[in-house]
This record gives sequence, structure tokens and C-alpha cells, in this order.
Amino acid sequence: MTRVLSCIQPTGEVHLGNYLGALRNWVDGQDKADVFHGIVDLHALTVTEEPGLIGANTLQLAAMLFAIGLNPDVATVFVQSHIAEHSQLSWIMECTVSFGELSRMTQFKDKSAKREAEFVSAGLFTYPALQAADILLYDADEVPVGDDQRQHVEITRDIAIRFNHRFGETFVIPKAVTPSNGARVMDLQNPTAKMSKSEDDDAGVIYLLDSPATIEKKFKRAVTDSDSEVAYDRQRKPGVSNLLEILAASTLISPQLAAAKFSRYDDLKTASADAVVAMLEPIQRRYGELLKDKGELMRLIHKGNSRAQVVAAKTLSRAQNAIGFLGKD
Ligand code: TYM
Repeated sequence: MTRVLSCIQPTGEVHLGNYLGALRNWVDGQDKADVFHGIVDLHALTVTEEPGLIGANTLQLAAMLFAIGLNPDVATVFVQSHIAEHSQLSWIMECTVSFGELSRMTQFKDKSAKREAEFVSAGLFTYPALQAADILLYDADEVPVGDDQRQHVEITRDIAIRFNHRFGETFVIPKAVTPSNGARVMDLQNPTAKMSKSEDDDAGVIYLLDSPATIEKKFKRAVTDSDSEVAYDRQRKPGVSNLLEILAASTLISPQLAAAKFSRYDDLKTASADAVVAMLEPIQRRYGELLKDKGELMRLIHKGNSRAQVVAAKTLSRAQNAIGFLGKD
């Protein structure tokens, strides 16, 4: 059976880019493959300094993952810091990746540039080594992610191939899987930048927990393009094409077909907002119910953790043996 792994950081509220680019695919995959999904709190530490925040975000994110439809009986949902093997394999990965490779990562360049006046941790730089550990620990064949994570999956492949070459066949070589619509959801206010959580301006970011009124307002104010033709062309018409892709991904049609239905921007905006509100309504309801019972959420997390732990421990010891560390017995 195909093994799937993908993770998300608990760095704040989940947005439409996360959902359409990755999370929805996780849910679709759970009945076809053996799926592992991590809440990667160690990764969030690269940009979080406030005490207590990561833990609270982790619990809320767990509720969201179950609310979107991950079924704890089939999907293994775990918390990264609860499984020490991630940190242990991460060091081995750091010693298998080069400084030059890490320097070429666009996410590091972007994030460190944005944090110019703030503390830039070494963890932000070595981040892809930890991500490689996440993926390789579970012998993942496929990694369902948005476009922005492709480079991290590529470097994971390079690391795995290098390790296998040095120490013998140990790791499965994974591949990234992205959806045909929604792999790169753009900011509604700035459609040439990807939608991402922003500390100063959220006007172009749709959060999964936004109220219908907020969603309508954000779509109404979305930046469109200078002419008035509704057509799907990412290069020439980034604003309209983003709306068409969101509408298409939310209603499971193609953006070209969606374009043919509208002649006015306003109608397209209203239809996109309506489609997103309808898609999110059941998720918001389930999220509210799940968050009421912290004990049950913790039980579900422990259930996922124990399944993940067994797999992770086996792979770590396979890697340690391949390297030839002195055994403890
Ligand atoms: P993160 O937490 O930023 O995002 C989680 C998932 O959402 C996707 N995504 C998007 N997709 C389309 N359009 C967007 N605007 C958009 N924004 C985010 C991301 O591609 C991702 O799939 N480094 C990872 C977390 C991670 C991971 C892993 C992922 C750590 N270990 C192992 C896969 C496998 C990250 O920061 O994702």
C-alpha cells in the first residue's frame, strides 16, 4: 500500500491556501493509502518565541485536521515534538545535506529576508533537514503539498539518495504530489504573492474560520486586473485567474469552465465567496464541536502518536545501523 506523509506547522490559523493546496488532498488520500500527518511544532519554533503559543496552536490545529475530515481510525495524526525520532534523525540529515544546498532554499531566503530586523535562528536555515527527517522516517512514497513545498521535497530526495549511496539502501525516495487546481493559492490583495499568514495585513488571506461576512468582504475587495474580461491566464490576469482557481477548486470544476460562466468581475467575486462559504460551513461547525472536548482531542493525538512512534523508531534504528554507530548492547 502506498505510504503518504505530509505535515503542517502550527503557526497560526489555517488558510485557504493550506486547505486547497494540501489538506484537502490529505483527506482524499486517507482511504486509498496509509497516511501519516504531522503537526510540526518543532518547525514552528523557528519563528515562534512566545511561551505557550505553540502548544495552544497545536491543539487547535489538531481540531482543525479532524474537522476537515481526517478520520483518526485510518489516518495517523501525530505531534512532531512527541516523537523524539524526528530530532534524532534530523541531526543525521544535517550531516547529509550541504551548506550550499541549504543556502539555495527559497523559503529560507524569503523568511530570513522578512525577518531582517528580527532574530534569524540557525533552525530556520537547517529547517529542510528536519523536514527530510519527517518524510524519510515514515518511508513515504508520496508527499501531498502545495507548490511552495516542492523544493523541500526535492532536497529530501537528494538527501535520501546521498544517504543510500553512502551507507546502503535505507530510505524510500519520496515524491511531491500537488493538486491540479489550488496548488498555489495567491493573496487576494496581491495576486502575485502566495497566500500566507501575515502579521500585518490579512485582507487578502481567507482563514478557514473566517465568518461568511468576512469572507464576502475579502472577496469583494479582491484585486482584479485592469481590463474587464473574465479569462483564465495566470501571467496576464493574475487576480482574476486566482479567483477562478479558487472557485474551480471549491466547486471541483476547471478554471476555464468557471471563466466561461461569467462576464463581470463582480459576479465572479460573489460566486467565489459563496462557494468558499459553503465549503467551509461544515468544517467550522465540526471544529467548534471538537474544540469543546480537549480530553477527547488529546486521546486522538495519543492514538496517532503511538502508531507514528512505532514506524519512526524502526526507520531511525535502520539508519543508525546503516551508519554503523556502536550499538548499546
Ligand atoms: P506550511 O505549514 O507552511 O503549509 C502546510 C501546507 O499548505 C501548503 N500551502 C499552500 N498551498 C497552496 N497555496 C498556498 N498559498 C499555500 N500556502 C501553504 C503548503 O505547501 C503545505 O503543503 N515546511 C512545511 C511543513 C512541513 C512538511 C514536512 C510538509 C514540515 N515537515 C514534511 C510536508 C512533509 C510548511 O511550512 O508547510
